[in-house]
Amino acid sequence: MHIDLVDRDRYATSGPPHEQLAWLRANSPVHWHDGEPGFWAVTRYEDVVHVSRHSDLFSSSKKLALFEELPEDQIALQRLMMLNQDPPEHTRRRSLVNRGFTPRTIGALEQHIRDICDDLLDKCSGEVDFVTEVSAPLPLYVICELLGAPATDRDKLFSWSNRMIGAQDPDYASTPDEGSGAAMEVYAYANELAAQRRATPKNDIITKLLQPDEKGETLGEDEFDLFVLLLIVAGNETTRNAASGGMLTLFDHPDQWDRLVADPTLARTAADEIVRWVSPVNLFRRTSMADQVLGGQEIKDGDKVVVFYSSANRDASVFPDPDVFDIGRTPNTHIGFGGGGAHFCLGNHLAKLELRVLFEQLARRRPRIRQAGPARRLRSNFINGIKELPVTIA
Ligand code: HEM
Repeated sequence: MHIDLVDRDRYATSGPPHEQLAWLRANSPVHWHDGEPGFWAVTRYEDVVHVSRHSDLFSSSKKLALFEELPEDQIALQRLMMLNQDPPEHTRRRSLVNRGFTPRTIGALEQHIRDICDDLLDKCSGEVDFVTEVSAPLPLYVICELLGAPATDRDKLFSWSNRMIGAQDPDYASTPDEGSGAAMEVYAYANELAAQRRATPKNDIITKLLQPDEKGETLGEDEFDLFVLLLIVAGNETTRNAASGGMLTLFDHPDQWDRLVADPTLARTAADEIVRWVSPVNLFRRTSMADQVLGGQEIKDGDKVVVFYSSANRDASVFPDPDVFDIGRTPNTHIGFGGGGAHFCLGNHLAKLELRVLFEQLARRRPRIRQAGPARRLRSNFINGIKELPVTIA
């Protein structure tokens, strides 16, 4: 079978190459993918979890670019973000920011998220683009809330986030240089925001993160600014694409939509099934730190290793009927938020809350929503994204 897991045009037309990934799981689960540079493609659930949980053997801080080399200034900035660090450096930062993302702290945002969803849904009628009107603003407004950013800054944050992530899609007309420019602007913005909160503390999550923890440790100024940048990058695009991908999947599975409309409380399990099915983050990269055996395959110190969440989430050894979309699936041990270990998604409770409330409110308030035209996918092999999803809302 011809294997190309990188071809962005393919992702833009039909999403992740599920057929090829299924073949790899069955025949070559740790597979050398030729290219410049080449990498080991890891496709089975068990192996993705193993890589994710062993940061000593699979580093996040080496070879940052996924498939191409990045410009120097972007590499310098990326290196400072916790996503691209290993323990023990990573551990200290992570424990400082964890305080703001516990289920309890995030749970307190539920009513606010419900109000945002209701406002967005109330504004829609007739034929609209679901991405522009619903799935893109929702996570953005929620992040603005976390940051304590005024509503007037929302457009600015939205455009920064698009410019940073859309580097491989001509529709966003973003080049790597433009991406770095946007990142520097966000960085400056975060600096300003932090200065305001230090001067005038408020009752928001960001103020909490600026205060010392119980051991008296604090995030340095740079660390805080970088964290804000990471939140904007990691929290926006991912949730937006989970929401758009979830809506599209429900259109493709009308029986499951009808089930949700009949019982909107199913939105809780539906949120997880959507993340499993869509796998908004397709993959992540690591670097092997030793000559070692992975999934029966010998790999070398310094080799690039890419874990495919979209593949692991359809692994039949973990998920009965993995190619069936079932909004009531329980248990659902998907790894759409990462395979566990140090870097497991910090925002997972928040993302699930946003998705649950959105689909609950959609089923309750807009049960007759229909797809009004073909979806357009993002040209990216990293983010499984939807750029446009025309819908009719009665
Ligand atoms: C890390 C997925 C939403 C913040 C990650 C990772 C994945 C992921 C796969 C990397 C895991 C690893 O390398 O092992 C997702 C998906 C989301 C989502 C699918 C939505 C459906 C969010 C939100 C936020 C967020 C809403 C914050 C507001 C982060 C951060 C990290 C991260 C800060 C880095 C954690 C670290 O390095 O310790 N996410 N994410 N994510 N995510 Fe998310």
